[in-house]
Amino acid sequence: MNDHQFVLVLDFGGQYNQLIARRVRECGVYCEVKPYTTPLAELKAMEPIGIIFTGGPNSVYLETSPHVDPEIFSWGVPILGICYGCQLMAHTLGGEVTAAQDDSAREYGKTATYYDTACRLFKGLPAEGVSWMSHGDYMARVPEGFALVAHSANCPNVAIADEKRGFYGVQYHPEVNHTENGIAMIRNFLYEVCGARGDWSMEDYKRTAIAAVREKVGDGKVLLALSGGVDSSVCAALLAEAVGGQLTCVFVDHGLMRKNEGDEVEQAFSKWAMNFVRVDAEERFLEKLSGVDDPERKRKIIGEEFIRVFEEEAKKVGAVDFLAQGTIYPDVIESGTGDAAVIKSHHNVGGLPDYVDFKEIIEPLRLLFKDEVRQLGRELGLPEYLVMRQPFPGPGLAIRVIGDLTKEKLDTLRDADAIFREEIANAGLDGGINQYFAVLTNTRSVGVMGDGRTYDYTLALRAVTTSDFMTADWARIPYEVLDRVSVRIVNEVPGINRIVYDVTSKPPATIEWE
Ligand code: XMP
Repeated sequence: MNDHQFVLVLDFGGQYNQLIARRVRECGVYCEVKPYTTPLAELKAMEPIGIIFTGGPNSVYLETSPHVDPEIFSWGVPILGICYGCQLMAHTLGGEVTAAQDDSAREYGKTATYYDTACRLFKGLPAEGVSWMSHGDYMARVPEGFALVAHSANCPNVAIADEKRGFYGVQYHPEVNHTENGIAMIRNFLYEVCGARGDWSMEDYKRTAIAAVREKVGDGKVLLALSGGVDSSVCAALLAEAVGGQLTCVFVDHGLMRKNEGDEVEQAFSKWAMNFVRVDAEERFLEKLSGVDDPERKRKIIGEEFIRVFEEEAKKVGAVDFLAQGTIYPDVIESGTGDAAVIKSHHNVGGLPDYVDFKEIIEPLRLLFKDEVRQLGRELGLPEYLVMRQPFPGPGLAIRVIGDLTKEKLDTLRDADAIFREEIANAGLDGGINQYFAVLTNTRSVGVMGDGRTYDYTLALRAVTTSDFMTADWARIPYEVLDRVSVRIVNEVPGINRIVYDVTSKPPATIEWE
């Protein structure tokens, strides 16, 4: 069934599962994450060349913990078990896993580890290194046929291997950066044990994806809501390349975008022959938002209005066969997170409209991670400023002007934000900061400019480093850069006389102010 060799990542609920999958793909091998509950017959139909059991928060000896069909071990496919996955393998194959009796057997954090380099997993790697541990259980007895292939000061069986059957278990996390040579170990599993050829490349993927879109769409019509964010832009480029003449992209310019953003998006797509509709809806949005200061109401109004505008445009296009969406893999992977509290309602532009007439949804980026989407965008010839664009919330600058909105405030913020971004780029800091922007507060304060008194707005600068946007740290921007930004904004942007820098991490704050 696969165009590429395929590795299966079986998900037991660990926090690094997506990271494991990304690592495998970085090694040039295609993989997907599937829940551990997937029936064995279904897994077999995927014809994987290898399987990786992820970590997980449970203890294998509890009956309620996730288990696998023991048949999986007779199938003849190599398996690498990580942390919980390692203990699960040991437990299922007749070993014994218990709660660590004393603290010395419980291991967390960076641990000096010694490897047997005769084992295929560690082939060609240093015999000593730091590994990242995070487990409270202990393998009291390893199953028959397994050798101990790595140890630490406290633990004789940090890694186990049955080389004949191609079964490997590691109690640490090779996928995280804290584990020295961890990726090389995953690579060894793939290439030395599973016989990977490394046939997953973005150039290849682009070709296959274009062919697949052409086949699926045939001579049908495709409609896409283009927000100008990375995902919808790459999705648009892919579709344009595949079926340009049959594609309509509706780009709703709600007037809440950053400086020049609308023109940049339009410009980037001018090279494709497709139906590109830019709707100037600024007035409409501002009218609806007039006098609204509650952030959740802003989100709701923008989300609803967006759908309405999109529907109106879609009606003009008439019946379409496919509605395209830029969904990416992290949105697709079933995650074990239960009922997390709703902190913000994250209305995404591009939500599903109710009244658009279409037969099927098409999601050509469904299996790609964010960095792969960017790579694909480059392959498709999108400009770097679009491909590397930092995340921008659907409601745009509406949630960065605190309190009620006016066009004047939005323009002020746009100018200040553009200066901040320009100076960050000039200082070469843009690659290391994951999101940075300006916020126009609704606080006014007294200042002095020339010989006169001012009573103007305070602007806040926000810049964070984060890997998942669930937690974030404030970026340590050098004082000189902050100084340059501050001097320029106060001098160049009327209406602002004070600049503050937000030094709160998330939690307890959030990244956006609203
Ligand atoms: P917070 O402020 O919740 O932001 O820490 C986390 C990430 O989500 C983005 N964000 C949004 N994205 N619609 C979106 O599409 C929204 O309503 C929204 N609110 C926040 C935010 O920019 C950050 O990347």
